Amino acid sequence: MSKRIRDMRLNEDIEGKYALVNIQEPKEYNGGKRMVLKIRDKYLDEITVTYWGNKDEDLKSLYDSLKDAKCVSIRGHVTENRGNGALYISVSKNFDNSIKATDDYDLNDCLMSIDELPWLDANAEDMKEEFFSIISAVENRYLKELLNNVFSGEFWDKFYIATASQKFHSAGIHGLLHHTLNVTKIARAVAALYPSVDIDLITAGALLHDIGKVWEYEFTPTIEYSDDGKMLGHIYMGAEMVSRKIDEIENFPLKLKKELLHIILSHHDLISMGWGSARDPSTPEAVIVAHADNMDAKTYSEVRKKEGKLNKN
Ligand SMILES: [Fe+2]
Ligand SMILES: [Fe+2]
Repeated sequence: MSKRIRDMRLNEDIEGKYALVNIQEPKEYNGGKRMVLKIRDKYLDEITVTYWGNKDEDLKSLYDSLKDAKCVSIRGHVTENRGNGALYISVSKNFDNSIKATDDYDLNDCLMSIDELPWLDANAEDMKEEFFSIISAVENRYLKELLNNVFSGEFWDKFYIATASQKFHSAGIHGLLHHTLNVTKIARAVAALYPSVDIDLITAGALLHDIGKVWEYEFTPTIEYSDDGKMLGHIYMGAEMVSRKIDEIENFPLKLKKELLHIILSHHDLISMGWGSARDPSTPEAVIVAHADNMDAKTYSEVRKKEGKLNKN
């Protein structure tokens, strides 16, 4: 079990596998050569590692063996940087420490699962059950068929483990499922206050609003934007998939198609806010989903920040 970065304490020996964030080329210092890198644990916290090499040590080949690594295994010692008081991990052969690239990791070594977060009480299997029970309660037969068609097979397997963001809200394995379920429950609760809004449309819009995120990020094993994410973005990719899946359903009402696509295209609220909406939300259903989306994302970020503060000694 790798030591959590936030729990590392001064003068402690640590051992574990971590995602490599970046690495600098070795540089001379008066005792020999040193190399600085940054690692990230599965909770997305980061710490600097300094490798202190002897004068005759070949740090260039160590650097070459590490520079393209996704995951590194480290044995080191937690030390204080006298300049600014921050902790870093010191690694040196003299003290029998080591750092090496490793392919022997699974996703859970370098990335947290929503199940493990101390500030959530989430369980992926329970969330999955709740997700499909919400779909089964949809009465509109076109929307129900669409939801069952989208959330199935290979796509469901990807959606089930996908993340909702890179660092902020619901970041981690099963994060997209967690965020989507929260947005759907918030939106449905608000919809219950307004009998004239279309609850099935809200439910479908909320469940589908971020499906493009399945392709927006990739686990490398840290969370990175994919080429598709950078070039196309999840709003376009999600709307494109929903449009395609609707066209496979016979007689799907055109008006309903437009209303549903409108929810996806406007779910980042007003265009002027600069968060990537293609349209301003202009139906009650779209307004509700856009605000439910923002409410979950913002609340999650604040809860995580509060947890971070509480953990600092
Ligand atoms: Fe989104
Ligand atoms: Fe979202």
